[in-house]
Amino acid sequence: MSSVLSAFILVSCLGTILAADESFGLPTIEFKPITKLADDIPTCHQSDNNINECIKQGFQQLTPRLKNGISDLNIPPMDPFELGKSSYNYNSGMLQGRIAMRNVAVHGLSEGIVDKVDYRQKNNRVRMEMISHVPQMLAEGAYKADIKLNDMKITPKGTFNVTLSDVSMKTRAMGELYERDGHTYLRLSKLESEPKVGDMRIYANGLVPDPALNDVILDFINQYWRQLYQAMLPETMAIWEPQMLKLANEFFAALPFDLILKQN
Ligand SMILES: *[C@@H]1O[C@H](CO)[C@@H](O)[C@H](O)[C@H]1NC(C)=O
Repeated sequence: MSSVLSAFILVSCLGTILAADESFGLPTIEFKPITKLADDIPTCHQSDNNINECIKQGFQQLTPRLKNGISDLNIPPMDPFELGKSSYNYNSGMLQGRIAMRNVAVHGLSEGIVDKVDYRQKNNRVRMEMISHVPQMLAEGAYKADIKLNDMKITPKGTFNVTLSDVSMKTRAMGELYERDGHTYLRLSKLESEPKVGDMRIYANGLVPDPALNDVILDFINQYWRQLYQAMLPETMAIWEPQMLKLANEFFAALPFDLILKQN
């Protein structure tokens, strides 16, 4: 389940800065079938009166381990989270054009905090809502772009970093349980996230050849990051949500749900 958490946090972080199109930078993960869990993986029981607290504690226990990855759960190292090459198209409001990025590393996921869990299960239907936040995240990498910013046309190229503070996320997951080979598995039908960012600080060089003008543009971007964020968010989520749903379902197809949440 921690991979889902990571995915949620990841969506919140990256969703704020990118929207992907045909080439997508997620690393390929090999999901080996899991039949038994290591002793240090927390589990919960469906009939527990405090199941929400148990799931919350379970996430909280696993989150710091995202640094090294949790091979017992098919979770690769995620802090830093390394993204391959990716390119993104924007066509909304004040930002129009194309941005290609490479060597992007995202730091901070292992500092995630789960604030609230609401798990419901009725027969084979499962629904979970989770509120989580990451105090601070940093994304850095190299970029190349061809964009129109208001009336300015620029073809910048350089390195960038983005500091995100107080990234909070409300996530809703829905799915159903099914039986396979004597185990209960989960298949998600919906995975929705609503990321909010407290503050954002963007640094990039090479926006324009003149460093002084580069700073002026940066000031502009940093002054209007909320508007940029709002303009990018819908398209970004529309692209990320199906990707995350697919990834979550590959994760749950390899991990019997009854191993992490014991069924009655
Ligand atoms: C972002 O990059 C600039 C220029 O290299 C650097 O001065 C700054 O410290 C970086 N910010 C963070 C948070 O790493």
